[in-house]
Amino acid sequence: MYKEPFGVKLDFETGIIENAKKLVRKLSDMKGYFLDEEAWKELVEKEDPVVYEVYAIEQEEKEGDLNFATTVLYPGKVGKEFFFTKGHYHAKADRAEIYFALKGKGGMLLQTPEGDAKFIEMEPGTIVYVPPYWAHRTVNTGNEPFIFLAIYPADAGHDYGTIKEKGFSKIVVEEDGKVVVKDNPKWKE
Ligand code: 6PG
Ligand code: NI
Repeated sequence: MYKEPFGVKLDFETGIIENAKKLVRKLSDMKGYFLDEEAWKELVEKEDPVVYEVYAIEQEEKEGDLNFATTVLYPGKVGKEFFFTKGHYHAKADRAEIYFALKGKGGMLLQTPEGDAKFIEMEPGTIVYVPPYWAHRTVNTGNEPFIFLAIYPADAGHDYGTIKEKGFSKIVVEEDGKVVVKDNPKWKE
């Protein structure tokens, strides 16, 4: 009747959680996500790099339980745009989430269903509170893997469709060697 408690080890250097389920997202899995479609195609044909890996410890999708996962988001750019995660709303949209940055440099784009976006910078030690209803995407703005831990309700689920179709209203790009957050010219309301 009671579930068994457990402890697992997270390697701060690599982001790997022992016994976790590993998911790999390559650039070819992210067609249509980046602004510069030519640059995307060229890089996919050249080397199709891994953009990020997720190590997840997940429970049954039941209210009250918790999942956790690390993400290792690699450095890189498509055109001027920094590598990012697909981004999602939670399928149960009112489910919140906590992120804890462990290594590297980056940030999180968050967005309401109305398209109001925020960018929160993240460095090791930064904790980000993702409130209910906000879509979230992380961005690696540095030169080394950006690694963070996420803790989220087991019944949150992922709604990728809305973001895949509409994107975020903001993009994070490099301009003159600087990290710039600007309006997404392809944003569809
Ligand atoms: C979650 C978390 C997080 C996220 C990964 C990969 O709800 O599970 O937000 O673990 O899934 O960082 O990002 P995408 O799910 O957007 O591809
Ligand atoms: Ni999430």
